[in-house]
Amino acid sequence: LADEDISEDELLADPVEKVLEVGGTRHPAIRLPSELFMPERANSEGLDLEDSAILADISGKVAEMPSVPAGMDSDVASAIANAQSVYPAWSVTPVEQRAACLDRLASLLEQHRAPLMAIAVQEAKKTIPDALAEVREAVDFCRYYAARARHDLAPVELPGPTGERNVLRHEGRGVWAAIAPWNFPLAIFLGQVAAALVAGNTVVAKPAPQTPDIARYAVSLAHQAGIPRGALQLVTGGGDVGAALTGDLRIAGVVFTGSVPTAKAIARNLLADDARPLVPLIAETGGLNAMFVDSTALSEQVVRDVVISGFQSAGQRCSALRLLLLQEEIAEHTIEMLVGAMRELVVGDPANPANDIGPVIDQAAYEKLMAYRAQNAARIIHEVPVPATGHFVPPTLMRLDSLDQLNTEWFGPIVHVATWPAGKLEETIAAVNAKGFGLTMGLHSRIARVSETVETCARVGNLYINRSMIGAVVGSQPFGGEGLSGTGPKAGGPNYLHRFCAERTTSVDT
Ligand code: NAD
Ligand code: ALA
Repeated sequence: LADEDISEDELLADPVEKVLEVGGTRHPAIRLPSELFMPERANSEGLDLEDSAILADISGKVAEMPSVPAGMDSDVASAIANAQSVYPAWSVTPVEQRAACLDRLASLLEQHRAPLMAIAVQEAKKTIPDALAEVREAVDFCRYYAARARHDLAPVELPGPTGERNVLRHEGRGVWAAIAPWNFPLAIFLGQVAAALVAGNTVVAKPAPQTPDIARYAVSLAHQAGIPRGALQLVTGGGDVGAALTGDLRIAGVVFTGSVPTAKAIARNLLADDARPLVPLIAETGGLNAMFVDSTALSEQVVRDVVISGFQSAGQRCSALRLLLLQEEIAEHTIEMLVGAMRELVVGDPANPANDIGPVIDQAAYEKLMAYRAQNAARIIHEVPVPATGHFVPPTLMRLDSLDQLNTEWFGPIVHVATWPAGKLEETIAAVNAKGFGLTMGLHSRIARVSETVETCARVGNLYINRSMIGAVVGSQPFGGEGLSGTGPKAGGPNYLHRFCAERTTSVDT
């Protein structure tokens, strides 16, 4: 499309002015200082003066590990038994009271923001801006699901003939297993838990083995907020504990976020015993996320959004950019600018607010990513220098000679780059779709027709046009994918809570 004549009317307005005005602060076009990695719209708001105060406050404190509440952990069998025994009372607790618990939890999270951020920095290796965004997203999930529950879970009178009354009610299903990843160890962990609880279920929650402490802290706050101890139980450990939990026939539903292989293992586990009832599995997994750039895109904006989407959080977001697809005519120029921007990035200790990017989560992730880079060293276009010790993977731009060279999610700061010829946009999107993932996609173009084409052809849950591809805002950008990337419903969206409920219709001949 982009090689055809484009009329002035078809060109979208120059978006630079808007895009570079973030939270009332003007950012220069190419320089990429650490403030560029600030969450732009956490809590659906821009940054404000309070944020600078928080950052100044927290940066002095991250060296001290806050004390983490003890006595949270249970074993799988007793956790499920406790959650089962509390279920009858919790399931009939009025929605308003359950929602009020989530609102109180949100307020407690805000009050405990500094220690939660400190644990996120130390345990999950989050940079300080990412740790702030983590707490804010957790707060958003609690308040959003509380509000949706009040709105969505009340009984609904349905039409029928005279003399008949039809009512649809939403009730809990029983004990849910909530299994979370390490990369959003508070926000996703609590998002799953909050949704399951407010829908009337009790929950056994299992955080990732890399991040148990922030989960312990969060569960303790949830109990302080009025959620009965039995209604929310914590089990800690790795895949074996997760398998024992999901394999238990008393579990009435599973909400999982993590990798594709683990989602498939859980699905098999849920079907392994013929005696087991069919139970829902909500699985949100990884992506092979592409960004398309055509010749009308604004280079400065593209560079900024590629760096944010590919390298923020060391690329350890399911939403992160993995495959940059440049129209041939602009490829050389864009890569040159991108390399210039990468030279500005500073990798180092995430507790130091001067650093843009921290390490990857652990030794296993480090070794996997470094081995992949070593195997493909000849295709590396540019890499950012990193400290000599620690799990720092250099942010890397890697050329692809063919899209066949990338079929899996590399969960780190590696952006692959390939080109597409003008007039072949649909074919290239089809090739990306054919890989089977369907989480995020980006587009940079100033032609409305091109946006429409991508909207029509893309098979992804979240499409981002002329902006970065990460940082979905609860309630504004419901998040989740399709195909290998997940089952839906979308987290932070209006349809999420219903999947946690049993829907019951009563029809009465009056
Ligand atoms: P993972 O699949 O290794 O682990 C996730 C959780 O599953 C952990 O708690 C783990 O202990 C548990 N687990 C492992 N094996 C299990 C089993 N057999 N049965 C039950 N539970 C088991 O994933 P991870 O490394 O923690 O997280 C990174 C992955 O998560 C990436 O693929 C990323 O794309 C994905 N992710 C997706 C989303 C989304 O919303 N789509 C968000 C964040 C992360
Ligand atoms: N919600 C996270 C993001 O959008 C995964 O980056």
